[in-house]
Amino acid sequence: MTQQNIVFSEKALELQAKAREIADTYVRPAAAKFDKAQEYNYDAARAVAEAGLFRTFIPEEYGGYGAGVLALALVAEELAKADSGFGVAFAVNALGSFPIILGGTEEQKKHWLPQVAAGEKFVAFCLSEKFAGSDAGGLSVRAFEDGDDYVICGEKKWTTNGGVADIYSVFCVTDPTSKSRRISALVVEKGTPGFEVKKVEDKMGIRCVPVVETHFDHVRVPKANLIGGRPGVGFKHAMMTLDYARPGVAAQAVGACQGALDLANVYSNRRQQFGVPISKHEMVQKMMADMAMKTEAARQLVYAAAAGIDAVGPCPVNSKMAAMAKCFATDMAMEVATDAVQVFGGYGFMEDYPIAKFFRDAKILQIYEGTNQIQRLVIARHLVRECSELDHLQEYIPTEVQEPYLEEGEAAQKA
Ligand code: CAA
Repeated sequence: MTQQNIVFSEKALELQAKAREIADTYVRPAAAKFDKAQEYNYDAARAVAEAGLFRTFIPEEYGGYGAGVLALALVAEELAKADSGFGVAFAVNALGSFPIILGGTEEQKKHWLPQVAAGEKFVAFCLSEKFAGSDAGGLSVRAFEDGDDYVICGEKKWTTNGGVADIYSVFCVTDPTSKSRRISALVVEKGTPGFEVKKVEDKMGIRCVPVVETHFDHVRVPKANLIGGRPGVGFKHAMMTLDYARPGVAAQAVGACQGALDLANVYSNRRQQFGVPISKHEMVQKMMADMAMKTEAARQLVYAAAAGIDAVGPCPVNSKMAAMAKCFATDMAMEVATDAVQVFGGYGFMEDYPIAKFFRDAKILQIYEGTNQIQRLVIARHLVRECSELDHLQEYIPTEVQEPYLEEGEAAQKA
């Protein structure tokens, strides 16, 4: 348990205001069009770049504003309030950049981050595979050493921003014989021979951002692209990245909650049934009040998780907070979007209005960047560890369960 003061820097508030303006001008009005066509909104992305919003999460030394995870959350929330798909189209650049920011060498940061900050290059994160989703350690894409290069072979799945992105953080097996140092991350640039986007997925939601299969057919990259400059630290970098990025997904969920709530608010105050606006009916009032509470509770948890990371960086408490924020906010987004459709009644079921899209878009939030089952697993594992600090409470539980549980090996040793 930690207590963080949530302080919004002037820069963060400035970036939030810019994001809101772009959302109102470029994102919301075009959301239905890009959703239907399953096309990327390059106009909005250009506006985001020109407003300097990609600089939000890049440290100052590399051309960014170093505004931190809280500012990233504010920007992602504003964009997702207009269109969840565009919210992730923005935030996935942070996800793909964090391995370099958190684990890259000085040369790697200097080489790639300024281009991302300027919005000249988009980024993607290639972790998941056909047979390795929740079990992120079970990867099979291989990177073999060959002279001064690594040669990558295999397929990645569900690469968000694939095809649009220019820079890919790709997690590969470099040492299959090692349990704890199996995985390394390599940067692969678009256009590298053998690297191809093979399948663009046809999705239920977030249709304006591509999610693809990426194929690596003997893709040769120099050893200089090995993130961190040494093999075997890829899994840790992936986990740290997810700790940093999950508040961003959670913020997208808060934006989705607020976007759906706002539409339901307007609708329920205009739509009349039984001679009055439906907002005067108690059952609708209950739904609206619950939606507002869920949105605000999620928002506060997300801001606290983000502020914690900005204050102390990677640590177990922040890992737990990131998982809690991601899990809670995205569950709330699904609930709020579902109720918002309910408030809209028959109109809510029609694709003529954006409320149906909020519902379709919300589902993936509970799945990507770690399913909410995985978030609960992470939280529960942290609780088990924290239990060792609670020995002073032992006298308040039944005496017959006071003996600490010992793993098999430990029990044998004690005997
Ligand atoms: N920070 C640093 N190190 C960490 C860590 C963290 N948060 N979590 C674990 N580690 C370290 C452990 O300390 C351990 O190190 P040692 O080997 O030195 O002891 C090592 O990593 C292995 O840890 P675990 O034993 O806990 O690993 P596990 O195999 O049990 O798995 C898991 C842990 C939490 C389930 C992990 O596999 C996981 O997070 N899975 C979900 C993957 C995920 O989120 N995928 C999303 C893909 S991205 C995406 O969706 C993008 C998109 O499209 C937008």
